[in-house]
Amino acid sequence: MSARCDLSPVWAELQAHFDQEGAASGRGFDIRTAFQADAGRFQALSFQAPEVFADLSKNRIDASTLALLLKLARDCGLEARRDALLRGDPVNLTEGRAVLHTALRAPAGSGAPFNDEVQASLDTMLAFAESVRRGERGAITDVVHIGIGGSDLGPAMVVQALEAFRAPGLRLHFVSNVDGHDLAPVLRGLDARHTLFVIASKTFTTQETLANAQAAKAWFLAQGGTDVARHFVATSSNTAAAAAFGIDTAFGFWDWVGGRYSLWSVIGLPIAIAVGADNFRALLAGAHAMDQHFATTPLEGNLPVLLGLIDIWYRNFHGFTSRSVAPYHQGLRRLPAYLQQLEMESNGKGVDLDGQPLSVGTSPVVWGEAGTNGQHAYFQMLHQGTDVIPVEFIAVKRPHHGVTGELADKLLDQHRKLLANCLAQSQALMQGKTAAEALAEKAPTASATLDREVLARHRSFPGNRPSTTLLLDALTPRSLGALIALYEHRVFVTGALWGINSFDQWGVELGKALCNQLLPRFESGDTAGLDASTAGLLKRLLSA
Ligand code: F6P
Repeated sequence: MSARCDLSPVWAELQAHFDQEGAASGRGFDIRTAFQADAGRFQALSFQAPEVFADLSKNRIDASTLALLLKLARDCGLEARRDALLRGDPVNLTEGRAVLHTALRAPAGSGAPFNDEVQASLDTMLAFAESVRRGERGAITDVVHIGIGGSDLGPAMVVQALEAFRAPGLRLHFVSNVDGHDLAPVLRGLDARHTLFVIASKTFTTQETLANAQAAKAWFLAQGGTDVARHFVATSSNTAAAAAFGIDTAFGFWDWVGGRYSLWSVIGLPIAIAVGADNFRALLAGAHAMDQHFATTPLEGNLPVLLGLIDIWYRNFHGFTSRSVAPYHQGLRRLPAYLQQLEMESNGKGVDLDGQPLSVGTSPVVWGEAGTNGQHAYFQMLHQGTDVIPVEFIAVKRPHHGVTGELADKLLDQHRKLLANCLAQSQALMQGKTAAEALAEKAPTASATLDREVLARHRSFPGNRPSTTLLLDALTPRSLGALIALYEHRVFVTGALWGINSFDQWGVELGKALCNQLLPRFESGDTAGLDASTAGLLKRLLSA
């Protein structure tokens, strides 16, 4: 048994299976043919996990592919590695830490690791959030959350997604970029007396966050703000640094919570302020339900495992280098950005746990945009481009527009249009259109000069482009929690099978160090010892 799935003998079986599929048809697995051959394909390849229904049937897999992928997972000891994660073993080897975001959503009395500390921290954080909502910390109308990466993307994405649950009259702002063009427009509309700043940084050393926090404090004082202690709070595992910064109220958490897995901790404070304690607990409960599913469901029906295995199949056998995420819900428009950190920072690694270079590809590029907007931008490439990019559609059955009367009817009709677009795109990707079919159609616009057959080739689609569709009944705190946890576990599955450490991020350190070295040169103008490109650019930036 090897931790690295490419070293397992099952890898060669999968390769043979892949090669055989290619040889059998001359073109590889054809999803359309698979549907024709098997009337039960949708039933066989669709799965219900807590809050999330998944249709995997429009993928280039069948029962034999899945059986081999599951065999690979077992041969690599995936279940034992999952159990080690959930038990709190120090699976983040390079930092010598456990990875226990699942403990943050385990209910009181569950016996999960650190349960007493977690519950105490949660109660304190939620009590504070409720006090802000009740106006007990002054008439707060605006909360400015300052953080970056995992201390921004999760809370910002969730607050946006749960807009329908947000307390009226309370505005949430998220500032992350060290670029002052992020902070300035937010501050412009605010009144210091009615603003609460939450400074979120696990380490409390992050350049961007500290710079924005300093600037926000200076603005607050310049506006006549007097009670910094009341208007600035911090969420951090380095509460001493927060205190040194001058913040009295700091909500702490633990080093076993990774930044990109931290929205369930006190880093979720803006979520709790926005939607309240009960909804925050529902978010945790949804995630916990998915944790239970991941922990106990046999691999054959375990959705994070199945999604992770298909990711391996596409990345390493089909050679697909990217995956597009298309949430057909405006509230989920930041989900692709959130997933970029979750997946690419976790699994963008080049060596295995022993530090040996990997010989297979790891994290794909994850990208996307809310539907239907993406359709009018890059879907052209998904349909007719030369690369095959699996697409992940996320749709929500019941909308919550929060309006009544005629507008409600109109928006309900729009929701049907939204869902029809979602289904149509996955259909079109799979079906494609042959040149003969295109030729038989009456072209909406015909070129006067172009031969009809040439035009038909422009208007044909290869099809057989894979997609997965995830369905939620409604976008609620509970379903969102389950959806996010599903993605977290899927990332764990692929990382575990590749035999990498999904929980460190050394790759961001070099750029940070070089930035710190370069910064004084912006004062001194000294370019000695720099490469010619950097020196040339610096000179241009400093020129009058
Ligand atoms: O630079 C990457 C990173 O360390 C992320 O992993 C993290 O989420 C982000 O920076 C912010 O870090 P912190 O919460 O310590 O400010």
